[in-house]
Amino acid sequence: MSDIVASAPGKFIVLGEHAVVYGKPAVALAVDRRFTCRVRRSSRPNVNGRPFERGVHLHLDTIIGRNSCPPVSLETESEIPSGSGLGSSAAMSSAFSAAVRALCGRELDEREIAVDAFEAEYAAQGRASPMDASASTHGGGVVVNGPRGDRPLWSISKNSNTWDVSETDVPEMTFVVGYTGIKAPTGPQVEKVRKYRAKSRFAAEILDEIGQTALEGIGALDCNDVEGLGRLMTHDHKLLSILGVSCKELNKLVNAAERHSYGAKLTGSGGGGSMVALTDDPEAVCKAIALRGGQPFVVRTGEEGVRVSEILQ
Ligand code: PMV
Repeated sequence: MSDIVASAPGKFIVLGEHAVVYGKPAVALAVDRRFTCRVRRSSRPNVNGRPFERGVHLHLDTIIGRNSCPPVSLETESEIPSGSGLGSSAAMSSAFSAAVRALCGRELDEREIAVDAFEAEYAAQGRASPMDASASTHGGGVVVNGPRGDRPLWSISKNSNTWDVSETDVPEMTFVVGYTGIKAPTGPQVEKVRKYRAKSRFAAEILDEIGQTALEGIGALDCNDVEGLGRLMTHDHKLLSILGVSCKELNKLVNAAERHSYGAKLTGSGGGGSMVALTDDPEAVCKAIALRGGQPFVVRTGEEGVRVSEILQ
């Protein structure tokens, strides 16, 4: 008997959240906070000692179904707060997929793991992009529907959308994340945007502009243009606010960080969760965020994607 341990990193979205759900460009960087899954075969399927419930453990259920997986016992450990906008559910899904695949002796194909994690997110959120799943699985820097010339990783299609995912160099830039402490699940935020877009051309135009901003940001990242990227991040925050996915706590932290940054914005689905600032004065940004009641941390980028090990009992 052996246990399989797999872990995957969280991420933050530099530009393009929400619009990426509709196939627009976006870019994300994996960070040095990981989600770990430890699985073993068990006649009584459970999650951290509690019975496995299909309706509760939607992400896991999707992955179990896709892999005709035998009953397992799962223990989890996370350095990523859930609902913090840092991709904890994608990291969990990617790590769990890799762990059950290894348990069944199947090939550890990165694309297959990313698709498992994407389908799990889609089922749990009602709608999703493969951005978080790809960033957690591959690690480093990931661009979705970027300009030609990127290093392609994989393409994923669902309904009428196709997402071409590629790898990008991790920039030598310093980012500070500020967590509001407010847990904000992704599903309701994604649904809010879907409803707004369905009834308003204005919302669709804002999503287009977020995509255009991300495309410009990918160019700024490529040529290490910190000032340009910062300006685009702040602009993106305004667009996301107009879309209705920011909140007063996020705005407070973004405003406080901006004074010491090239730019700042909410990251992830919003409504709470976290913001991110691009700066060369991380200490001042951390102080400003903490003063306004946020939990700051300097993120280390360039984090490795999903990794698996086997522990013999
Ligand atoms: O809040 P997070 O970390 O789950 O990020 C969600 C990103 C969205 O673009 C809002 C949704 C998605 O699936 O891409």
